[in-house]
Amino acid sequence: MADVDVHELVEQIERIRAEAERALAAAETLQDVETVRVRFLGRKGELTAALSAMASLSSSDKPIAGNAANTAKRAIEESLEVRFQELSAEALTRQLKAERIDLTLPGRPVERGYSHPLLVALQEIVDIFIRMGYEVVEGREVEYEEYNFTKLNIPTEHPARDMWDTLYLSANMLLRTHTSPAQARVMETTRPPVRVIVPGRCYRNEAEDATHGIQFLQIEGLVVDTDITLADLKGTLYAFCRAYFGPDRELRFRPSYFPFTEPSAEVDVACAVCKGHGCRTCGFKGWLELLGAGMVHPNVLRAVGYDPQVYSGFAFGAGPDRLCIQKYGITDLRLFRENDLRFLEQFS
Ligand code: DAH
Repeated sequence: MADVDVHELVEQIERIRAEAERALAAAETLQDVETVRVRFLGRKGELTAALSAMASLSSSDKPIAGNAANTAKRAIEESLEVRFQELSAEALTRQLKAERIDLTLPGRPVERGYSHPLLVALQEIVDIFIRMGYEVVEGREVEYEEYNFTKLNIPTEHPARDMWDTLYLSANMLLRTHTSPAQARVMETTRPPVRVIVPGRCYRNEAEDATHGIQFLQIEGLVVDTDITLADLKGTLYAFCRAYFGPDRELRFRPSYFPFTEPSAEVDVACAVCKGHGCRTCGFKGWLELLGAGMVHPNVLRAVGYDPQVYSGFAFGAGPDRLCIQKYGITDLRLFRENDLRFLEQFS
């Protein structure tokens, strides 16, 4: 009754299986393996086609052909898997060989950065004051005119405002011309004793030359307590300069004028380049101005609500840029901003 002979079908299944094994043995890539899978086990594959022929077998023949078909299917699946694994392993080995890295090669050196000489100088200066018991606070680079001038005993229209070539941002706001406004800010928020330094950037509308820049660093110092005298100021500044420059650089204390101190002084150091004879760096004066200082003016104390009958203090404002060029004998401040590594690397 059946138009398919079960023995022929079983033989056909065996042939398909043998053919699949040959095809797999010949497969060279994972893609070839996939092609074999589709050819024999796919929906339109050869084994699948043979299985559909089973439908017309008698029910006693069906299990015989079914068995053969299942065994063949499992065998082909197994072989597919084995070949897949073999070829994957080969591919991996090939890739590992191709991408091999030589761990014995020395690494490429990484360029190490270092701090800018001005920051190094600032840090050294700050460290000296920290050792003397000062607290470090920050002021504001954008300041109110009131703090930059008025509270420092420089009222509007006072000619002393001309001492600073100010860059205004609006009618009452400016880029601070010095770190002194921090004096008022500190005193307004604390009670004596006060002993602070304020490092930071300042700005002036100036023609740039060897010793002046539009933007520069300053470090403000302020000490207020009962019984602070000019002797404390002198002792502190000498101690600082000796610590920074070493004991044998000449210093000069000279009377000066600042609206926020009375009396006022300026401290000069003998030029590092010419040792006092006069050269381009010192403007042929032999000395370089390092800082301004003085005893805090009673009006400044009053402006922040300190009683000048009870408290006295001293203040100073130094330029780390200048301190740094004087320490190393650098001839031009502009070198710091030119980003020439041949210069900057010498301080690393
Ligand atoms: N602020 C002054 C300036 O930049 C420097 C200065 C002088 C600061 C005397 C002070 C001081 O604290 O007491 O020219």
